[in-house]
Amino acid sequence: MITHTLTVAYTEVNVLSDLAEADRELLQQAWLACDSAYAPYSNFHVGAALRLANSMIFKGNNQENSAYPSGLCAERVAVFSASAQQPGVAIHSIAVVARTDIFKIENPVTPCGACRQVMAEYEMLSGQPIRILLQGNSGKVWIIDGIANLLPLMFQGGELKKQA
Ligand code: THU
Repeated sequence: MITHTLTVAYTEVNVLSDLAEADRELLQQAWLACDSAYAPYSNFHVGAALRLANSMIFKGNNQENSAYPSGLCAERVAVFSASAQQPGVAIHSIAVVARTDIFKIENPVTPCGACRQVMAEYEMLSGQPIRILLQGNSGKVWIIDGIANLLPLMFQGGELKKQA
């Protein structure tokens, strides 16, 4: 019997001027998207902005629905929008921010499992690790390089191709 141990890594940045201009700009775009989230049921507003390898930026925000499971997270709105309009172009980085009017979000909000799996698919397609920037209301930023640091032992889909 062997126990394997996996480690994940992320970087915390507390001084925004330590970030590259491109990262700061992406976070700003994510906050803009957050402002127009449609989140009347949770009052939890999430914004995402991603930069493609061709420098285009796509934004998304959470879209809720009175039939709750029909809604979609900000990250997937942004990622699907980019893939629909610029198919096959690698995602270089994605910024995700969140706020609620009810309380202060101290730590950056990390993407849900479904969004991690969706980002993993596009990362595998392009072969380029996606840089993920996360920020809550307190200002600090977490930077994660590559989805494997968010979703270790992810389902990679390769097994599906062995069925035929
Ligand atoms: N939400 C996101 O948009 N992204 C996440 O990574 C986590 C959760 C949204 C879904 C729902 O509209 C609200 O936040 C509360 O779960």
